[in-house]
Amino acid sequence: MTATAPMLEMDGLDAWYGEAQILFGLSLKVGAGQAVALVGRNGAGKSTTMKAIMGLIRRRAGKLALSGVDLGALPTHAIARLGVGYVPEDRRIFAELTVLENLDLGRRRPPPGRAIAEWTLDAVFDLFPQLADLRHRPGGQMSGGEQQMLAVARALVGNPSLLLLDEPSEGVAPIVVAHMTLALSRLKASGLSLLVSEQNAHLCAAICDSAYLIEQGEVRWQGPMAALAERATAGPGGSLDSPAQSTP
Ligand SMILES: Nc1ncnc2c1ncn2[C@@H]1O[C@H](COP(=O)(O)OP(=O)(O)O)[C@@H](O)[C@H]1O
Ligand SMILES: [Mg+2]
Repeated sequence: MTATAPMLEMDGLDAWYGEAQILFGLSLKVGAGQAVALVGRNGAGKSTTMKAIMGLIRRRAGKLALSGVDLGALPTHAIARLGVGYVPEDRRIFAELTVLENLDLGRRRPPPGRAIAEWTLDAVFDLFPQLADLRHRPGGQMSGGEQQMLAVARALVGNPSLLLLDEPSEGVAPIVVAHMTLALSRLKASGLSLLVSEQNAHLCAAICDSAYLIEQGEVRWQGPMAALAERATAGPGGSLDSPAQSTP
């Protein structure tokens, strides 16, 4: 077997907001075609990790590479062009623009060598049929769940190799969480690599292969998703944010 670089490799990353250090030597890997969960309490550093990958905040140490290509010094648009898609916590849908116009802004040809079929408008409407019916609706006149689907669809038509999803089930109705879980498992099956920040244990368990538990900007636990899910259900409330409590 030939040794291939992981889709994403972060090693010993420090990240800062101004003078405040938020991430401390964070290391994680996402293998090609893998789905990896990032879990931890509010304020642990999950969103910051994703912003650091996208070059949206300052990194001062450590290594960050996509399929062996160093992302260290690159600006956000170059990281996106190399094949990293990002669905931020706040979704950033353009409220005045329709679904089609929002999608149009996200379109990009697949990076060279990407093995996954191209995400066209038809393909994302097949994944989220609700969006097809709303194609002429301004983004600002959609529910939170519909906006979340649009945010994922817009990232997909950018044809990433790796998709970062920041709490895709946050603040959306249970029925939408169910749709989203199904959609994300289809993305996983398509061969897309995923890094998902998520508190919903069911969504994580349905999609993710492995998980990292972040606390105060450090990795506190890592392992197979099944092991994390087992610990979480043994703990109070079945929450994914504090499984380390059950560690002997
Ligand atoms: N723009 C910012 N400026 C300064 N500190 C921030 C900013 N955004 C987040 N933080 C701090 O960084 C830490 C990690 O936040 P975040 O990555 O958003 O956590 P999570 O996504 O796990 O809830 C928190 O202590 C938060 O207060
Ligand atoms: Mg967050």
